[in-house]
Amino acid sequence: MTDKYAVIGNPIAHSKSPQIHAMFAQQTGQDISYEAILSPPDGFAATVERLRKEGYKGCSITVPFKFGAFLAATRLSECAQAAKAVNTLKFDDHTVFGDNTDGVGLVRDIENNLGFPLKGLRVLLMGAGGATYGTVLPLLDAGVELNVVNRTLDKAQQLGKAFTARGRIAVFGYTGLDGKTFDCVINATSSGLSGEMPPLPRDIFAPGALAYDMMYGRETPFMKFAREQGAAIVSDGLGMLVEQAAESFYIWRGVRPDTAPVIAALRLP
Ligand code: ATR
Repeated sequence: MTDKYAVIGNPIAHSKSPQIHAMFAQQTGQDISYEAILSPPDGFAATVERLRKEGYKGCSITVPFKFGAFLAATRLSECAQAAKAVNTLKFDDHTVFGDNTDGVGLVRDIENNLGFPLKGLRVLLMGAGGATYGTVLPLLDAGVELNVVNRTLDKAQQLGKAFTARGRIAVFGYTGLDGKTFDCVINATSSGLSGEMPPLPRDIFAPGALAYDMMYGRETPFMKFAREQGAAIVSDGLGMLVEQAAESFYIWRGVRPDTAPVIAALRLP
């Protein structure tokens, strides 16, 4: 019998997840279906309950339901617990397991696909919202020297405190970055959505640096800035999208898909 999965979001029509999971399923010979489900903003818990009753085995969660999914889970991974956000639910008879694969996806894309080993590097993560919380633990686990900068300094400080048990995070406001350089700068802000550029100082990139934007689909002002400033590698977040999906697929199916052909297919015009 075909096992059913879905991605839940609002909006959801433009989600690439059904296409990604269809490619994973075909490649690994797994007999699954995977559809996109639009949930009303105030009806997320009911949507999850309906899917469970209908025998779905799990789902991916996207904006704006990652916190709702955190609340819906009866068991959480360490990463989901720390992030207070869940992007993957797995249903068993008695449990709703919640995980957050965004950070693992980010680290795999950077290290495996872009060939940029992170251990020991000075990493600057921009933003202190949900996207940042989801990626902190996998970055710390990768052995980076982690720095977080946010427009509202207070939120960066709260984030630093939230992770003290797991590692040291240096926090900054943008003016505090003057004169500093980093080996890797990651944009986890929502600035690209509105075509804005976080107020980064010039000369922030160390020689050979990677500039990574978690957004995909268009060149953001941050990516343009990074090219102008001579970052050695500039990447959008399409690879992260595929890698986080691959980790979810592994959680559900116990099989690791090959992500390279899927990323290549999505990059085709
Ligand atoms: P998400 O869950 O996607 O991270 P969020 O919780 O709304 O969304 O957080 C958005 C983040 O992007 C915040 O860190 C925000 O900074 P503030 O906390 O100072 O508001 C950041 N952000 C949004 N637009 C930005 C801009 N133009 N420049 C710098 N940071 C920006």
